Amino acid sequence: MGLGLVVAGVLLSYLIFSRLQLYLSRRNFIKQNGCEPCPKRYNKEPIIGWDVIKQNIVNKNERKMLEGNQKRFFDMGANTYLTKTLNVPMIATCEPENVKTILSLRFKEYSFGNRYHAFAPLLGDGIFNSDGEKWQNSRHLLRPNFARDQIADLEAFDRHFKLMLKHIPRDGSTVDLQNLFFKLTIDSATEFLFNHSTNSLRMSEDDTDNEDAIFARAFQFAQHDIITRFQWNVLNFLRPNKEGKDALKICHTYVDKFVEQAIREHQADKAAGMPGDDRYIFIKELVKQTNDKERIRIELMNILLAGRDTTASLLSNMFFQLALRPDIWAKLREEVAPLEGRLPTYEELRNMKYLKWCLNESLRIHPVVPGNSRFAIKDTVLPLGGGPKGKAPLFVPKGTVVAYSPYSMHRRTDFYGPDAAEYKPERWEKLRPGWEYLPFNGGPRICLGQQYALTEASFVTVRLLQEFSKIESRDPNGGQWEEGLTLTVCSANGVKVGLTPA
Ligand code: HEM
Repeated sequence: MGLGLVVAGVLLSYLIFSRLQLYLSRRNFIKQNGCEPCPKRYNKEPIIGWDVIKQNIVNKNERKMLEGNQKRFFDMGANTYLTKTLNVPMIATCEPENVKTILSLRFKEYSFGNRYHAFAPLLGDGIFNSDGEKWQNSRHLLRPNFARDQIADLEAFDRHFKLMLKHIPRDGSTVDLQNLFFKLTIDSATEFLFNHSTNSLRMSEDDTDNEDAIFARAFQFAQHDIITRFQWNVLNFLRPNKEGKDALKICHTYVDKFVEQAIREHQADKAAGMPGDDRYIFIKELVKQTNDKERIRIELMNILLAGRDTTASLLSNMFFQLALRPDIWAKLREEVAPLEGRLPTYEELRNMKYLKWCLNESLRIHPVVPGNSRFAIKDTVLPLGGGPKGKAPLFVPKGTVVAYSPYSMHRRTDFYGPDAAEYKPERWEKLRPGWEYLPFNGGPRICLGQQYALTEASFVTVRLLQEFSKIESRDPNGGQWEEGLTLTVCSANGVKVGLTPA
């Protein structure tokens, strides 16, 4: 009894002492960095954050998550505020200086946090899902493969484009371009990554039994399952999920086959002293660098996830706007007219100024990765958000999630003017944004596929401009874009258009 009391006393003293030490060192840190408290707190219910959770559910059902998030900044009259969900402290910000600090200046003080567990079954420790040394190794392995000047294969794009063209009616009847863009990007990405295309554009809608179609469906399911895991959070282990497990197995088996084939071919080429295929195929480059099959498979899955929906969403969001604006379509057609119908070269694509403005502007009003977050792994500081006007540095305790919103940042009227919510490519004539424009992220984890994505999107747009003189929106919602938010964002109602052949 006496000993028990002594042990309890020692433990209590230790607890009080370590708390006091933490309090004093934090007080010092706050003072040294000139931090002031953030007066803006979104939650009314301060522990679980039920009010915010309920509001998020309503916004999600109304397809207004992004608009809702932007409205919070507006309602609070602040670009940075505090909130809490399930007792996790969170700082929400749309302040470019803060975003630069998280992603670049104090990069090492943040990790992905619990995002890892949601992505891990599909993506393991691949580039898109790892932190620290593991991420550095992945980036080191993959970056050289993206550093080539002309990573994208325009001839391959054109083959896939021609297949897509067959699905577009030439009598002006309605077609959903978004559906076709998603097929096009999985077909081209799988060819580029695995040296084998899923060829979904070759199939009819009811051709669902072959292994390519089964993989495409399984990958889609596994991708959506990430979001469900996010939502279930710590309770995810309670969720029976046979379909999810089956989907993962299908994806792994499918990709493993191509990894094994690439390793075999590489070994045969080496033995025969042959240089191998001169086309640029990702899997072939990877097997030259490592023969770790699981590692190659994981990285390929990571890049497929990073690159497929994003490029399809960019094309979809831009075509949603183009279909509403015959004047922009006409201007774009003028830009491609000097090609006289032939395929553009890499250089020509790069020099199409107005097309570049149209893409930039789409990524501004509808950044396809519209929100993101990082987790503070040590006590740190943001340059803005503290004090009554949010202009003083803000203390970020270890364990805080800092959520940043490219969507809200891209619509700030102080950066983009009172017409910030409008699709207006011409604004890019003068615009030279810094961190307030962030579709591809910034800092050491900047998107590796930016060039590939912009080349593919430019190529497909040029080819559609050459084929069709007019585009007309047939949007069931009268041209009001509604968010279809998963890991990326595209139009919830697809991109329904009628096209007139040139
Ligand atoms: C419009 C198209 C695209 C957009 C808007 C986009 C955007 C992004 C963003 C925002 C991130 C950062 C994610 C984070 O750190 O939380 C990212 C990372 C990445 N992206 Fe892209 N992406 C696009 C296309 C592509 C393509 C086509 C590929 C590959 C072929 C690709 C490969 C990657 C990779 C590998 C990363 C991880 C980089 C790292 O963590 O070091 N992306 N992308």
